[in-house]
Amino acid sequence: MAEPDTVLTEPPVSVAVPVPAPAGPEPGPRRPDHVAIIMDGNGRWAAGRRLPRVAGHRAGAQAVRRCIRAAIENNVRWLTLYAFSSENWRRPADEVTDLTALLRHYLRSEIAELHREGVRVRVIGEHERFGPEIRAELEAAERLTAANTRLTLIVALSYGARAEILQAARRIVAAAQAGTVQPDALDEAGFARYLSTDGIPDPDLVIRTSGECRLSNFLLWQSAYAELVFLDVLWPDFEAHHLAGAIDVFTRRERRYGARPG
Ligand code: FPP
Repeated sequence: MAEPDTVLTEPPVSVAVPVPAPAGPEPGPRRPDHVAIIMDGNGRWAAGRRLPRVAGHRAGAQAVRRCIRAAIENNVRWLTLYAFSSENWRRPADEVTDLTALLRHYLRSEIAELHREGVRVRVIGEHERFGPEIRAELEAAERLTAANTRLTLIVALSYGARAEILQAARRIVAAAQAGTVQPDALDEAGFARYLSTDGIPDPDLVIRTSGECRLSNFLLWQSAYAELVFLDVLWPDFEAHHLAGAIDVFTRRERRYGARPG
């Protein structure tokens, strides 16, 4: 066993002695624990190849697989994917049918593998709108993977941030009327517990592909201090290096949370 550097033979005197920093590698720049992605550009990818839009969504599902693998390789602990927005219901019925079929196929073919990889699956959004069958499969996926800890994959399905915040406000009003919440005592952390992301840390990094620079009703409360990175790549072309590049941009940004630079 290693000898201590100093053996005290006298009672300690109250003199401030500088404590050397613990040995070991210098801590590197902070990396994002939670990455959230607006997967955009499936339609343009298909149009550029004169293919039907569904081909773009199918290629987008392949990119989802690559992205999850890349997130694990980059030690991302939480990955949120915007798979279907509340506004996407306004798309033509055949596209909604195609996206629903793709989601069903994805759930059946991928969940066992995600479970083997140690991925926990969580769903946010009004996913019951996809019908009882998909709802049951999503809930089964959540139950099966509930104890996994390598990566939590949050799939936003029929998700809209404004609807989520409104729903939270309604629940808080009901709780206040029932006397279980004191509105004056409610703080931001208390409010966030009523959001669908309760228990999930806020995203550090939000990525949007396809060159569009908007949040499109995605995690508006949770992204208050997120770093935003807009990538000029269509989602079906998304590769591991795009995630690594966005993380690299993140590590070079200075996050001040409204404070002045140190
Ligand atoms: C945006 O592209 C993408 C979507 C509306 C759906 C996202 C779906 C996937 C990536 C595939 C399926 C995912 C899972 C989890 C199975 P867009 O159609 O708006 O593209 P555009 O802006 O070029 O028209």
